[in-house]
Amino acid sequence: MAERPVAVVTGAGRGIGAATALLLGQRGYHVVVNYLQDVDTAAAVVARIERAGGSAVAARADVREPGQIGELVGGLDRVDALVCNANVRQPVRASLEQTSWDELAGKVADELGGAFHITRAVLPIMRAAGRGRIVYVSSMSAGWTGKQQLAHAVSKAALNSFAEQVAADVGAYGISVNTVAPGAVRTEAGAAFMPAAMGEHLAGHSVLGRMVEPEDVAAVIGLLLDERTAALTGALIPVDGGFQVMVGGPPRLP
Ligand SMILES: NC(=O)c1ccc[n+]([C@@H]2O[C@H](COP(=O)([O-])OP(=O)(O)OC[C@H]3O[C@@H](n4cnc5c(N)ncnc54)[C@H](OP(=O)(O)O)[C@@H]3O)[C@@H](O)[C@H]2O)c1
Repeated sequence: MAERPVAVVTGAGRGIGAATALLLGQRGYHVVVNYLQDVDTAAAVVARIERAGGSAVAARADVREPGQIGELVGGLDRVDALVCNANVRQPVRASLEQTSWDELAGKVADELGGAFHITRAVLPIMRAAGRGRIVYVSSMSAGWTGKQQLAHAVSKAALNSFAEQVAADVGAYGISVNTVAPGAVRTEAGAAFMPAAMGEHLAGHSVLGRMVEPEDVAAVIGLLLDERTAALTGALIPVDGGFQVMVGGPPRLP
């Protein structure tokens, strides 16, 4: 049997990462299902991929810790796709006056560290192969103001800029780098961050009139990893049910 391409998905035990891991498993990747604390959810994702005839392994590592990421990537001799998705630390939902410097700096460091360390670890493998695909999972929150989520928005805006810089750095090596920006997604993290009323409010104001599902985001990530979309790089793709085409932009949160 031909050797499988390898995909590393960070934060793949639940939510968007789990949906992405399952999709990539179906597509024939050997999937590294990274998680932080919950080995059971990660093992369940691996089991679902294997039951469907695919190949996967659960790998615990804190994406904020370069040593742990070095160990995770050190065991891999190829990485065809990297999806930086881990939902590092819950966002602080607060305005500037309610946010301490430590909260803001900590959130930005966690978000960027979660992308920086694994990108640095994986790039030599992709460069040596002369190919690779990277997708960062950002958020539409990066461009929304006045939503009482200073630290989250600023950290995701920094991630968007980081992704563009990486795209420019590595394009010459045959590596494409893109970012997806989900809107309100029905996940555990989404529920913790957005009370049900807020989710319904956002869904009601989207063009589609519904919340985005993890599988919706996974499908777009899958497109960005496809060989046929290799010319697409440095792009930021919204997966938000259409907020950005509403007159006056996204709705104000209740
Ligand atoms: N949900 C939304 O509405 C929404 C909207 C826009 C953007 N996003 C973005 O989408 C991404 C995924 O969010 P989600 O809602 O799918 O999250 P989720 O359902 O809470 O799942 C988060 C995953 O990340 C893992 N994780 C957390 N911290 C980690 C760390 N330091 N190192 C490694 N893994 C870690 C968790 O592992 P354990 O379970 O083992 O702790 C879990 O597998 C995030 O980047 C988030 O900002 C989400």
